[in-house]
Amino acid sequence: MATVLAIETSCDETAVAIVNNRNVCSSVVASQIALHQTYGGVVPEMASREHLMTINPCLEKALEESHLGWQDIDGIAATVAPGLVGALMMGATTAKTLSIVHHKPFIGVHHLEGHIYATYLSDRAWNPPFLCLLVSGGHTSLIWVKDCGVYEQLGATRDDAAGEAFDKVARLLNLGYPGGPAIDRLAKTGNPQAFPLPEGRVSLPQGGYHPYDSSFSGLKTAVLRLVQNLEKEDKNNLPLADLAASFQETVARSLTKKTIACALDYGINSIAVGGGVAANSELRKQLQEAGFKHNIKVHFPTLKLCTDNAAMIGCAAADHLNRGHTSSLTLNVNSRLSITDVMQIYR
Ligand code: KG4
Ligand code: ZN
Repeated sequence: MATVLAIETSCDETAVAIVNNRNVCSSVVASQIALHQTYGGVVPEMASREHLMTINPCLEKALEESHLGWQDIDGIAATVAPGLVGALMMGATTAKTLSIVHHKPFIGVHHLEGHIYATYLSDRAWNPPFLCLLVSGGHTSLIWVKDCGVYEQLGATRDDAAGEAFDKVARLLNLGYPGGPAIDRLAKTGNPQAFPLPEGRVSLPQGGYHPYDSSFSGLKTAVLRLVQNLEKEDKNNLPLADLAASFQETVARSLTKKTIACALDYGINSIAVGGGVAANSELRKQLQEAGFKHNIKVHFPTLKLCTDNAAMIGCAAADHLNRGHTSSLTLNVNSRLSITDVMQIYR
């Protein structure tokens, strides 16, 4: 029953949490959104500097809120892949230093495995095997979760990730950064049937379409063309809510179709969703409804656990530590490590 202090700095949130297996003792998230908003996206160098400034106050707060001391901590974890290299290094170096100072094992964690483990924090009885739809700012994957560290990737995106598509379309509509929450909010007052848009499909060389892979670049271009045409008619009165609702409905429908098809084809009867886009209200609605129809259990983590946090990293680290998996202090961060290679992190 390991208690782990975990650090997450792979992108634009500085987060520290203390987790005992599937129980969160404390979780602190310092968002850098305000810093990057001016630039319309994350500026990697600024993200690293901000992590450096924020990490110590976050550590202090997490320890204080947990009412625990260093003597209660069994291991120190940090996200080591994938993500922005400079940002990952801030968290990993801090965790390694703490592990040396306090004589505790260091546990590297794969960010996507963290998103998978968010499921266990919001449903403690949930266990593999299940299908995980992982939809974040950098990834859109269908992962067959078989056990701790044992993953098979069944679907991926060929171009933009789902969250990236939300962010790019939001920028096009001048809705600010991050785009997902802005589109979600605006879509509530729009008509999702206002503009028919193409669902991203990936052609196969032998004809037909890949059943589980996604593509969002065509959809993004279709929204761009639509906006350009609408601007010709009336530049100052774009139907923003209808555009947001139509785009969001198309993404949710496309992801729902592929996820359900994949689960049915592989005979998997439970689906968990992870990553920032799992917070999307339309995706939550469509996938829950489709799951109900096909008798497949569908789980969405609570909203706070969908977006980046360190509690999910701590939960994954605790499971690895319980199984004797620890990482070398010479382990480097890796911007691109695949989830199927996650065991490379451990010795
Ligand atoms: O998992 P996450 O916090 O960070 C990464 O690992 O990438 O995901 C961030 C992404 C952003 O692209 C953001 O626009 C999107 O998740 N997002 C949403 C919503 N909330 C966050 N997308 C759609 N609807 C939302 N409600
Ligand atoms: Zn993430």
